[in-house]
Amino acid sequence: MTTTAGTLLADAQAGRVGGHPDPAPAPSPDPAAFRAAMGRMPTGVTLLTHGSGDDTIIMTLNSLISVSLDPLLLLVSVKSDGRMRPRVRRGGGFAVNVLGAEQLPFAQEFCRPDRPEGQAAMLRVGAVEGVSGHAVIPSAEASFECELHDEHEAGDHVLLLGRVVALHQHPDTTDPLLFHRGRYAGLSPLEPAPAGDDRLTPRGRAA
Ligand SMILES: Cc1cc2nc3c(=O)[nH]c(=O)nc-3n(C[C@H](O)[C@H](O)[C@H](O)COP(=O)(O)O)c2cc1C
Repeated sequence: MTTTAGTLLADAQAGRVGGHPDPAPAPSPDPAAFRAAMGRMPTGVTLLTHGSGDDTIIMTLNSLISVSLDPLLLLVSVKSDGRMRPRVRRGGGFAVNVLGAEQLPFAQEFCRPDRPEGQAAMLRVGAVEGVSGHAVIPSAEASFECELHDEHEAGDHVLLLGRVVALHQHPDTTDPLLFHRGRYAGLSPLEPAPAGDDRLTPRGRAA
């Protein structure tokens, strides 16, 4: 083997050929590595609500996915030993409110164990009772009111499939609130807004 071939082989083994970085070595994954790797995928941030008035419980959640158009189904993943799960099971539904960047303080507050509940929680986020009986936040980007369609145990979480019975979209559009690598972030668009889309203004100010 010539020196050049030997060098190439060594480079190939080290993953340096073609300018590709050497992928990080893969130790057997543990929860911290899993969480860190999943954190590379940015998500939106929502407030999951159950009940209204004195019965309200609200929780920061980013595990929202759209599942089906016929029927309209979405899915959220909620930790099994948390406060939300037994309430949803008992009451049979929930609402999901998609937050804008200006609602960062809500996300920070409603992941805490000492977060407000009941009327105080409704007041804090300016929520109203939706048609489903669950708290809806009119200042949110979008809200989905759901009946519980199905649930599946999944490790230390439970997957709640919600059938969407009502949805609301804010008439204006603001920057979404994002979560990436364990931190909240905003959006830096990579493309200009489509022509005529002049709605990207801070919530509450005229477009
Ligand atoms: C950005 C963000 C996203 C979260 N997403 C979820 C989620 O999808 N599911 C979940 O069970 N908890 C999620 N949490 C944690 C909950 O907000 C909350 O801390 C926890 O479930 C509280 O449990 P408790 O009801 O027992 O107090 C998230 C927290 C943050 C900060």
